[in-house]
Amino acid sequence: MTTAPGDGRYGEAVFRPEQAGEGERIDFGALAYDDITMARLRALGAGPGWRCLDVGAGTGTVSRRLLDEAGVESVLAVDRDVRFLAGQARKPGLDVLEADITGPDVVSGRFRLVHARFVLMHLPEHERLVSTLAGLVEPGGVLVLSDAVDLTSDRTPGTPYTAMMRAMWQGLRTAIGTDVSWVPSYPQLLRAAGLGSVAAEIHVPPLEPGSPLSRFWADTWERGRAAMLATGLVDDAAVDAAIRYLASEECAALSAGMLTVWGWKAPEGTAR
Ligand SMILES: C[S@@+](CC[C@H](N)C(=O)[O-])C[C@H]1O[C@@H](n2cnc3c(N)ncnc32)[C@H](O)[C@@H]1O
Repeated sequence: MTTAPGDGRYGEAVFRPEQAGEGERIDFGALAYDDITMARLRALGAGPGWRCLDVGAGTGTVSRRLLDEAGVESVLAVDRDVRFLAGQARKPGLDVLEADITGPDVVSGRFRLVHARFVLMHLPEHERLVSTLAGLVEPGGVLVLSDAVDLTSDRTPGTPYTAMMRAMWQGLRTAIGTDVSWVPSYPQLLRAAGLGSVAAEIHVPPLEPGSPLSRFWADTWERGRAAMLATGLVDDAAVDAAIRYLASEECAALSAGMLTVWGWKAPEGTAR
């Protein structure tokens, strides 16, 4: 049966948490990006006294580092499946909530920091969610969202890597509704959600053989193989060739980047 874009959901049609190795795949992505994320969150002031919400927290690396390194007061880590969070020793300041963020009134309270990384790009409801998440920011607080930007173009030379990236984006879009085409519009979406002093940046870690990022993409292709084959753009041999290419010295490619955008809610009694 053919699925219309977005019919399937993250964690069901693709990236099932119960499939062995899914936690490691998320951790490879985290290893590639956590330092960049933490530097931005700390530059925005995350520190003692801050109550934080980490949406789609995955294996909880950012939630934990907010507590351990930034010294925030508390983190509520929310995910549709919390097996990678619940398995960790109870950590003072860390609360875990298993919930689908697209549902109504999932989270109560207001937070100085609301953060979601590599989550909204997988959810067709992303525009509504930007507004929902902005509503969870307390006056004077900040919303910080990160998602992938595809840096391939029609003129990118054909390599096993580019063929696979094209198949990946198309396959994930059909299988679960993943869409990164709107990600560069994030600054306007935050502004439209009523936030001020909006700014954004992009980071692209190097794709070096054996690096966490290379291993993240290889794992992602392996796990999403069925969705990518269904596009007809690649066959099994092409997926295998792309995975070998990524791990080889021959690899010459620009990874998808991570766009991080942030916007502030006006303090009580002021307007931005
Ligand atoms: C690619 S992982 C990113 C994990 C983490 N934010 C990071 O950057 O390391 C996406 C996470 O979002 C969660 N997720 C996906 N859809 C969700 C939903 N509707 N509600 C809550 N969490 C969701 C997944 O379970 C997964 O843990």
